Amino acid sequence: MTLRKVAEDFPILSREGRGGTRLVYLDTGATSLRPRQVMEAMASFESTSYGAVNRGSHILAEESTLEVEDARVSVAQFVGADPEEIVWTHGTTEGLNLLAYAIHNAQWDMGIRGSERYRVGPGDTVVVTRVEHHANLLPWQELCRKTGAQLRWLDVDEYGRINTDTLNVIDENTKIVAFTHVSNVVGAVSPVGKIVDKAREVGAITVLDACQSVPHMPVDFHALGVDFAVFSGHKMYGPTGVGVLYGKRSMLRKLPPFLTGGSMIDYVTMEHTEYSAPPRRFEAGTQPVTQIIGLAAAVDYLTRIGMDKVREHETHLIRRALEGMKNIPGIRILGGPDVSDHSGLISFDVDGVHPHDVGQFFDAQGICVRVGHHCAQPVHDFFNVQASTRLSLGVYNTQEDIDAFLQALAEVRGYFCGKRA
Ligand code: ALA
Repeated sequence: MTLRKVAEDFPILSREGRGGTRLVYLDTGATSLRPRQVMEAMASFESTSYGAVNRGSHILAEESTLEVEDARVSVAQFVGADPEEIVWTHGTTEGLNLLAYAIHNAQWDMGIRGSERYRVGPGDTVVVTRVEHHANLLPWQELCRKTGAQLRWLDVDEYGRINTDTLNVIDENTKIVAFTHVSNVVGAVSPVGKIVDKAREVGAITVLDACQSVPHMPVDFHALGVDFAVFSGHKMYGPTGVGVLYGKRSMLRKLPPFLTGGSMIDYVTMEHTEYSAPPRRFEAGTQPVTQIIGLAAAVDYLTRIGMDKVREHETHLIRRALEGMKNIPGIRILGGPDVSDHSGLISFDVDGVHPHDVGQFFDAQGICVRVGHHCAQPVHDFFNVQASTRLSLGVYNTQEDIDAFLQALAEVRGYFCGKRA
């Protein structure tokens, strides 16, 4: 099944690629393109209702506040959460840092009842996985450095899939388990249920990095049972500069703030501050209001297509790509052999050709792929490569895109090494 007409919603796809080629965009894992519905929603909001949110009684302040709260409801419904469990952030990286810094703030008393739940120190462990991108690794490394806790990780099998035989790394000393839903390099879907069950057994807090899953499959945070989750607007057809931290109501309530300042307080004197209840406690300062409206429009857009259809469409294209790649000599796929091992993306190594050369060769034919370590060096080390090339899909991709990719891939070694596929 394909979503053929969808590409027409994306004005940028009607421009040419380098040298007048047909533009083929296969870099949605880094950032998605935006449909005109999202751009129009933001332009219309800017032209009619833009105003300061939560800080005024005039008509524009009131209308924009209502729209932002409506957006919270739409986004919450989209990911199986309640509106008060949705905190606006500027993206996944900020969401994870917010959490790690807020947990660090819980090491002393900020007047938040129950914040002892977040005490972490020497003798404790924070568990991640070997496949995290740096956004879900560095904040936890830093938290460990500051608190004296030890960072440990779940390991992977030969295909870079989380190996559930290593779940015993999570033990009674573990306070936090932070893991990706879908690896941005391998594309494997993590065994969320097994990790959450193990974390629950020992009373550890779970944090899910969902930035590569929410745009590509139906996701329900309540059903997954995680305590926290994060995702970005710009990877799901919304704008840059907006994202979401989801937190279970009971967990957010006990979490101290990260940033302090305007609009996150109940009462301030010169000596003392009482902080608001979540989600406002975590939304200090002026929020990216127009971007929030854009994110809600992206959610409406995806809801109209249907996330089951998005998943089916991308699976169909991944199958076509994988089958084609297996017939091209000199290609090593970083990840498992099956379609189910690759959710929306495939990273690979081309024997004898540096990924930057591969990327340039593709670009000359109008094909945009990502090259480099994809902000995930440890998993590249695991595969014994410094970098790779990655194709990643969006709703606008078609069979023709995959065929153009396969055609270029079949020629790349011939071009650089004089070897024919
Ligand atoms: N998450 C970003 C990507 O995969 C770094 O491109």
